[in-house]
Amino acid sequence: MIRPYYSDELVSLYHGDWRTLLPAGFRADLIVTDPPYGETSLDWDQWPTGWPAIAAKHSDAMWCWGSMRAFVAHSAEFSDWTFSQDLVWQKHNGSGFHRDRFKRIHEHVVLWYRGRWADRWHEVPTTADATRRTVRRKARPPHTGHIGAHAYTSFDGGPRLVRSVIVAPSLHGTAINEAEKPVSINELLISYACPPGGLVADLFAGSCATLVAARLAGRRAIGFERREQQCERAALRLAQLPLDLPIGSIAAPAGIADHLAPGHRVQTGL
Ligand SMILES: C[S@@+](CC[C@H](N)C(=O)[O-])C[C@H]1O[C@@H](n2cnc3c(N)ncnc32)[C@H](O)[C@@H]1O
Repeated sequence: MIRPYYSDELVSLYHGDWRTLLPAGFRADLIVTDPPYGETSLDWDQWPTGWPAIAAKHSDAMWCWGSMRAFVAHSAEFSDWTFSQDLVWQKHNGSGFHRDRFKRIHEHVVLWYRGRWADRWHEVPTTADATRRTVRRKARPPHTGHIGAHAYTSFDGGPRLVRSVIVAPSLHGTAINEAEKPVSINELLISYACPPGGLVADLFAGSCATLVAARLAGRRAIGFERREQQCERAALRLAQLPLDLPIGSIAAPAGIADHLAPGHRVQTGL
């Protein structure tokens, strides 16, 4: 029996390497994750070679944070996945290490999927205040993979799609993780690509920004982090947040075993 490091009604955090802990047959509706980019000599910053292929066994949709450099360097490792779209987090402060380049103030997050796009659940976020302005916007039928020029009709007003460049402050100072991502953006990613009541998995959990975001979005989540000190601080973070469960929410199962596909079971010793 694998015991979570932290668990509440919606989220569980496991201490260890997810490649060892996750049993075959575990399925999540969505992975939201942030691997070490492997761009520094820091101990924790090692890209785990081949991980996207293992992740593909556990979900058909994955938001993956990364730099353009990391995605280009490891593009062949994403061959089990189809590219859908990328968003940019624009930070207020840079994280570049080089004096001879532009000051880097952004990160990418890419949505990968498997199977047919039409079968993947998504709910496009719209701006909250847009109804106050009259705008012309275009609507077209659900995307089938082919973009046809004929499909557009225009009408006035209504909410507008959230833009693909999202400005949010950097987290230096208050951060638990060296590469912590904003909960506000993770919440958007989850609301977009995980059905209500669905399960999110974060394979490289760090400060558990994904688990916090999942809880705010009313989704269940499981995270894995192999550094115990990160688990300790993240567990404290999760424990300190008020548990504001949506009415009628589904209580999270206590362990990984509850998310196994039929016919699978957790093996002894895992
Ligand atoms: C880029 S950080 C994640 C930051 C996180 N998104 C946040 O907002 O706090 C990557 C994390 O993955 C952890 N890690 C690396 N390899 C791992 C593995 N195989 N299993 C579990 N955790 C791993 C590292 O210790 C590190 O904390």
